Amino acid sequence: MVAHELIRFQAPTLPSLREVEPWFAEAERLRWFSNGGPCVARLERACADRLGLEHPGVAVNNATSGLMVALRAVLGTPQGQRRLVAVPSFTFIASINAVRWAGFEPVFIDVDPYDWQPSEASLAQLRGLRSSLAGVLQCSTFGTAPSRVRRTSLAAAALDLGVPVIVDSAAGFGAVDEDGCTLGDQGEAEIFSFHATKPFAVGEGGLVTSRSAAVLDSLTELVNFGFDNTRSVTGHLGINGKMPELTAAVGLAVLDRFDHVLAHRRAAAEWLRSELEPAGLAFQGGSAGSTFQFVPVALPSGASRDLLLQKAHDARIEVRAYFDPPMHQLPVFASVQRAGELRVTESLSQRIVALPMANDLSAGSLERIRDLVLRVVTTTPRRPRFMASPAPSSRAPRIVPHPLKVIAGSAAEGPGVAPVAASRPVP
Ligand SMILES: Cc1ncc(COP(=O)(O)O)c(C=O)c1O
Repeated sequence: MVAHELIRFQAPTLPSLREVEPWFAEAERLRWFSNGGPCVARLERACADRLGLEHPGVAVNNATSGLMVALRAVLGTPQGQRRLVAVPSFTFIASINAVRWAGFEPVFIDVDPYDWQPSEASLAQLRGLRSSLAGVLQCSTFGTAPSRVRRTSLAAAALDLGVPVIVDSAAGFGAVDEDGCTLGDQGEAEIFSFHATKPFAVGEGGLVTSRSAAVLDSLTELVNFGFDNTRSVTGHLGINGKMPELTAAVGLAVLDRFDHVLAHRRAAAEWLRSELEPAGLAFQGGSAGSTFQFVPVALPSGASRDLLLQKAHDARIEVRAYFDPPMHQLPVFASVQRAGELRVTESLSQRIVALPMANDLSAGSLERIRDLVLRVVTTTPRRPRFMASPAPSSRAPRIVPHPLKVIAGSAAEGPGVAPVAASRPVP
């Protein structure tokens, strides 16, 4: 029997050096390789145009430093007893670490069962802590843009608490909500990661955006040791969080192909959704316009999720359990306060699985991933009663084209990037 090729969880593709070179040429000509050179300035402007923002954001060396400086730029230095920052437990550890690095203390909130975004009801439970709260670090879960309605009600919940909002949209560069609006203008500052495993992948990098010129000025100082533009020290506890020119040149080359990257990822995720939803798998609500760094799916039960993790190994398919454990269950955060019982986070984290994704994930790989999940779901003994369990052969007629048609490649599109599905509009 021929062993299947390993499907990697994420197999990042960066632009080739040939594609990067023309962008880097100006930095070479000027002999200017960091400290806000031409490539960084151009990337910041191009990202602002892509996100429809008036002011360019501040490019950073990774999103973790972006989070640290954004928290300080917006919330200042922790003062008196106002030290708590509300943050979802259902997120990646970088968000929580950044809160502590900035001198604040996290307080965990829950997420919503439909779209897995931070829950307003959970925020409302912090009313009793108003005098200790300094801010909210909202997370755009899995890089998905919350709907307009949710964005408005989350902003209202923070307003009710009387604190500013910072938004960690690490994987969300390019994500659109159901109205086609991009992220980038949420809260007082919003943070994106350009890590190799993110859809906008440069290796290590990120961007902090803000509608406020004052916040952007502070960010510029904070990522440059606390120097202002006259090179006086402002009193900000600065770090070196600057993005180098070579990284920015990679980012400019990524922008050239980014529409194709997103279109491929969305088409592949949409196909998986059409194949798996009828079998009782839950996808993140409102995620059609997400960026899909991977494909998060909630199984009907913790038992079926655990079985899937086990079977995936035998099937040579790498899957992960993001975010399990949730942050409040990590021993290092055991003493952190919580807004109630975090019931949705606890249930979701036991059932969640992250399926593989890549810029060039093939139709054959998608079919293997689908088959693995369906095999597990149809053989898991305990199935909640609300779930009809149709056999794969009797599932509802498919409305999504076969993946071979959806992602048939063309050499003109550049290496490793499939073209936009011919007829498939991005929802
Ligand atoms: C939600 C979230 N925040 C922050 C980060 C940190 O990003 P970076 O690796 O660019 O520091 C990540 C990385 O995966 C993330 O998922």
